[in-house]
Amino acid sequence: MSPPPPLQIIQTPDGSRTAHNLRFGETYGSRHGAHTQARHVFVEGTRTDAHPAPRVLEIGFGLGVNFRATLADAAARGVGLDYVAYEFDPAPAELLRAVSENEVGAEHPAWQQVLQCWPHVPFEIEAENVRLTVHFADVLSVDLPQDWATALYLDGFSPTRNPEVWTPDFISRLAATLAPGGVLATYSAAGHVRRALAAAGLNVERRPGAPGKRECLRAVR
Ligand SMILES: C[S@@+](CC[C@H](N)C(=O)[O-])C[C@H]1O[C@@H](n2cnc3c(N)ncnc32)[C@H](O)[C@@H]1O
Repeated sequence: MSPPPPLQIIQTPDGSRTAHNLRFGETYGSRHGAHTQARHVFVEGTRTDAHPAPRVLEIGFGLGVNFRATLADAAARGVGLDYVAYEFDPAPAELLRAVSENEVGAEHPAWQQVLQCWPHVPFEIEAENVRLTVHFADVLSVDLPQDWATALYLDGFSPTRNPEVWTPDFISRLAATLAPGGVLATYSAAGHVRRALAAAGLNVERRPGAPGKRECLRAVR
């Protein structure tokens, strides 16, 4: 039997970690700062850091870096958090543990439960006013919640490697998951992604990107 592949952990300049995904040949988060990207592009990009009761939908859960950044923010502000994510290729629990060790949000009881239960089905965590559900499914083939999310984190691998989650059709389905006033954020600022968001009826805004990227996008319903 061949040995399991080594965990491809990458230390990033802000002190946080990400990892290399062999299937897509890309890193899960930014090599220029995984936590900084999570915080800037997704938590602040969707204004979840100012929301009194955030309901977040994420495509896809990956290593949970965005979840921990959101969890830590909600806990620091003393607000509840409802978080629903989709992931069709769950990373090994060992990788989630290694990437999160001593990192933002890692000490929170909700994250501790994630590490204990990952990736059991159904995956539903509840601790200290945080509720997390991860659906281990291809997001293209599920019924998505409608008019629900205050924030949507569109965080697939790049449009070049993972084009299915960036098509105009799928983006218009994502727009319908947002509650009125809800905000979608993504690290990509590609022209075709901007146009698909606008075609879905969202108000699209270009923002300065996280380190290593000139721009990222916010789109408001
Ligand atoms: C860039 S990584 C996400 C990083 C993650 N948000 C984090 O904070 O660690 C992209 C993730 O999307 C997942 N993914 C890609 N296409 C998907 C699909 N069609 N359905 C469900 N998950 C998908 C991949 O398996 C991968 O884990």
